[in-house]
Amino acid sequence: MRAVTWQGKRHVSVETVPDPTLDEPTDVIIEVTSTAICGSDLHLYEVLGPFMDKGDIVGHETMGMIVEAGSESELPAGDRVVIPFPIACGHCWMCSRGLVTQCETTQVREHGSGAALFGYSRLYGSVPGGQAEYLRVPHANFGAITVGTDLPDHRYLFLSDVLPTAWQGVAYAGVQRGDSLAVFGLGPIGQFAARIAAHLGATVYAIDPAPERRAMAERHGITTFDSDAVEQIRDLTEGRGPDAVIDAVGMEAHGSPVTTAAHSIVGLLPDAVGRKVFETAGLDRLGALYGAIDLVRRGGTISLSGVYGGQADPIPMLSLFDKQVQVRMGQANVHAHVDHLLPLVEDDSDPLGLEDFVTHRAPLEQAPAMYETFQKKEDGCIKVVLDPRS
Ligand SMILES: NC(=O)c1ccc[n+]([C@@H]2O[C@H](COP(=O)([O-])OP(=O)(O)OC[C@H]3O[C@@H](n4cnc5c(N)ncnc54)[C@H](O)[C@@H]3O)[C@@H](O)[C@H]2O)c1
Ligand SMILES: [Zn+2]
Ligand SMILES: [Zn+2]
Repeated sequence: MRAVTWQGKRHVSVETVPDPTLDEPTDVIIEVTSTAICGSDLHLYEVLGPFMDKGDIVGHETMGMIVEAGSESELPAGDRVVIPFPIACGHCWMCSRGLVTQCETTQVREHGSGAALFGYSRLYGSVPGGQAEYLRVPHANFGAITVGTDLPDHRYLFLSDVLPTAWQGVAYAGVQRGDSLAVFGLGPIGQFAARIAAHLGATVYAIDPAPERRAMAERHGITTFDSDAVEQIRDLTEGRGPDAVIDAVGMEAHGSPVTTAAHSIVGLLPDAVGRKVFETAGLDRLGALYGAIDLVRRGGTISLSGVYGGQADPIPMLSLFDKQVQVRMGQANVHAHVDHLLPLVEDDSDPLGLEDFVTHRAPLEQAPAMYETFQKKEDGCIKVVLDPRS
């Protein structure tokens, strides 16, 4: 089959690789009908290189049709399914508490990581990803969600990651009707965190330097700002700052010169050395996180959806402690949020605006160009969906 593979820093290519096979009785194989490129894939593309192997199949936002089912699969061939990006068993201590990203069956203990993830480096189990013609889905009775057949893929696809991640970001922010919320970053995660919070009755302010991303958010009733908006948003929230702030940017924030050099150096170092630097140095770009700490009101909450990876990032503990800030974070426990989201996704009135999200559709073969377009935010690119069948 054809698949998008990691080849080196800022270099992916589409290669012919062996088809996946059923390895466990609870596996299924799906024929992929849609697979999206995520902001998290850009971390592999750039910063997480030392944990990638040449030829690794990437991608973790995937849906398709079951074409083969293992002997213990409860889902038959022919089911149309969405695949959550974390791989979880559904019955361990963690899964039974909804903490699927900490699944004790699939945890990658060798690297001290939580649950295995599709297409997300050695740190998360080197599991072949979904930017391919076919995908093997382990623990499919829990890890494949059967959906209806009437609506197009783009109504369901984002249940794999973007929507549950945004939902968890809002939930961890503790947003209630009437609250104020600021969102840093208006990539896919920020777009939907902002829309979900507005849908739940919050007043939402969002910050992103990219004008087309601000324009998209404005179309959904969000008040937006260019980068230096902390004072303006404070003024709009009676001088206190918003009740909660979501950081939907993560470790590759713009405008954080101190760690930028370390970042690009890590991508270029020999793997073993790069890994050591990554594991021991503080090297995230912390612009959005610092902004969130500064902006949130005293006694408020910060929710981190953006991914961070440094082990010794300098954090202003004085401000966090003195302001009495709560902080929650983590990979999205996708499966646990789907029941809240499915009715919204299937609602005829499209309350979350899924019809206004995907900016680029392309055949799988065009993945390398699409990665570049997405990373550079060229051509108004906000979300790319690849179709392996076109
Ligand atoms: N927690 C999870 O489970 C989970 C799941 C998916 C994605 N993520 C993470 O969420 C983050 C966002 O993902 P995405 O797909 O939306 O990515 P993206 O790269 O498309 O979006 C990031 C946005 O942040 C903006 N930005 C950069 N620096 C900024 C700053 N200093 N202030 C304000 N905005 C700034 C960029 O212009 C861009 O629009 C990434 O870190 C990604 O890895 C986490
Ligand atoms: Zn993703
Ligand atoms: Zn589990």
